[in-house]
Amino acid sequence: MNIFLLSEKDIPNILALYKKDFPDGWTENMLRSGFNGGRLIALGAKNGNNLIGVITASVGLDDADIEGVVIDSAFRKNGVATALIEEVEKQIFNNGVNKILLEVREGNIPARSLYEKLGFKTISVRKKYYADGENALVMLKELSE
Ligand SMILES: CC(C)(COP(=O)(O)OP(=O)(O)OC[C@H]1O[C@@H](n2cnc3c(N)ncnc32)[C@H](O)[C@@H]1OP(=O)(O)O)[C@@H](O)C(=O)NCCC(=O)NCCS
Repeated sequence: MNIFLLSEKDIPNILALYKKDFPDGWTENMLRSGFNGGRLIALGAKNGNNLIGVITASVGLDDADIEGVVIDSAFRKNGVATALIEEVEKQIFNNGVNKILLEVREGNIPARSLYEKLGFKTISVRKKYYADGENALVMLKELSE
């Protein structure tokens, strides 16, 4: 597996991967303005020439948000998401930011387990945050060297 920095030319492949799990998630315009805005860190994982995982994070002055991490279902449970999160954490830290926030569906046990294993703690619950009425958990990780 090879981790690399995604760029605008990867947008079609990013969308193809995201669409399987989040049909209403990213749009081409959202990604394009993210790349052009300079605040987006987007990393991909490759197996050969195929994109098998994506993580995106937006970096502010005081904190960063992990917006999403998606792994191709054929490559899950192999440490790909862990590797992507660890690399995005390094890049966020190198941007001078040591606080990472994210939102996760309360019922998304794989994702919650992943984030908890990597040291994220639930700090609040956003009731009925998602359009279907599901709660979001807000999770936080503070980075140190
Ligand atoms: C959640 C997701 C990103 C995990 O990716 P992954 O590459 O399989 O994760 P890893 O192999 O790095 O797993 C690390 C840890 O996460 C947890 N985990 C991963 N998949 C799990 C599952 N199906 N059930 C329970 N825990 C799970 C485990 O603690 C695992 O550690 P272990 O292997 O020692 O048990 C992947 O299942 C996915 O793409 N899901 C759909 C998209 C999604 O929901 N993204 C998160 C919200 S944006």
